Amino acid sequence: MSPIAALRRSFVSAARGNVAARGVMKTLSPKAPVVAAVNPLLSSLSTFRSLSSSSTMDTMETGTKMYMSLYPEGSTDGSLRLGNIVPDFSADTTHGPMESFHEWKKGKWAILFSHPADFTPVCTTEIGRLAMKYDELKAMDCLVATLSVDPVKSHTEWLRDVVAHCENQIKVEFPIIGDADRSISTAYGMIDPGTSGDQQLPLTIRAVFIINPENKLMLSLNYPACVGRNTDEIVRCVKALQLSYEKSIATPANWPENHADLPLKDGSRTDEFKGSVFLLPTVSPEEAKANYPDYHTCEVPSGIEYLRLVKSEDVEKK
Ligand code: BEZ
Repeated sequence: MSPIAALRRSFVSAARGNVAARGVMKTLSPKAPVVAAVNPLLSSLSTFRSLSSSSTMDTMETGTKMYMSLYPEGSTDGSLRLGNIVPDFSADTTHGPMESFHEWKKGKWAILFSHPADFTPVCTTEIGRLAMKYDELKAMDCLVATLSVDPVKSHTEWLRDVVAHCENQIKVEFPIIGDADRSISTAYGMIDPGTSGDQQLPLTIRAVFIINPENKLMLSLNYPACVGRNTDEIVRCVKALQLSYEKSIATPANWPENHADLPLKDGSRTDEFKGSVFLLPTVSPEEAKANYPDYHTCEVPSGIEYLRLVKSEDVEKK
């Protein structure tokens, strides 16, 4: 049975309160029947885990594997969604022809970053700020390509302004794709296919696609023309995705600035868990204890032990 079919089946089971409820009891906590009753998703994940493989300490499912099992690889209606394999394309770029986007990024993480138009103010600052992050992204083995519906000649001329606006302190070392026929923008959902006949409008939205080494779309951001993006946030997202690609964890809100002042059972507080991450719901208590003996469970009124924090240094060590 495919993972997706297993998940779907366990959703149904969870709703009926039978097999899935028993599955979750095994893997979460003594309070697990409550979980199954109130949260069919957790119940389903747990059942999926027991159906997919017998997870041992060495084979705990990574965040990517677990979360991506929730999304299909293919799109049923042509829209690009998380988990889908991104469309391949060929294009002209400021670095010359790109025969195949998939070949260009082969086996690596990549960011595809679109801007609405050359010679516009917000876009000028965005490409400049992205160039400033390029070395950091390169060190993370993450490629960058940007794109707009302007032709490459326009990009090349505009780049002089981008560099000058950063007081000539940057080099733009990533390719800028010219998507003059709007085929890439349309395939990636940045322009509605029904509106692409007019070659003036609409413009591409400000989109960010973060794509994993297997060409799966892991994260996308959509901004309108009037709001410039934060490149620190983009780098943060790549870091979080790369961590959950390898480890059985997920990053909390505002990570790595999270849980900086955590209350403990004895009434004291600690900053030791600042920047910590959550164990996945599919990690059993036995696996958690064996792999991360110092993990901390946050107490909540439900009594369900699902907020399990692991210090990031303990995750890095594994
Ligand atoms: C800008 O980048 O400033 C911009 C782009 C498209 C429309 C309006 C503004």
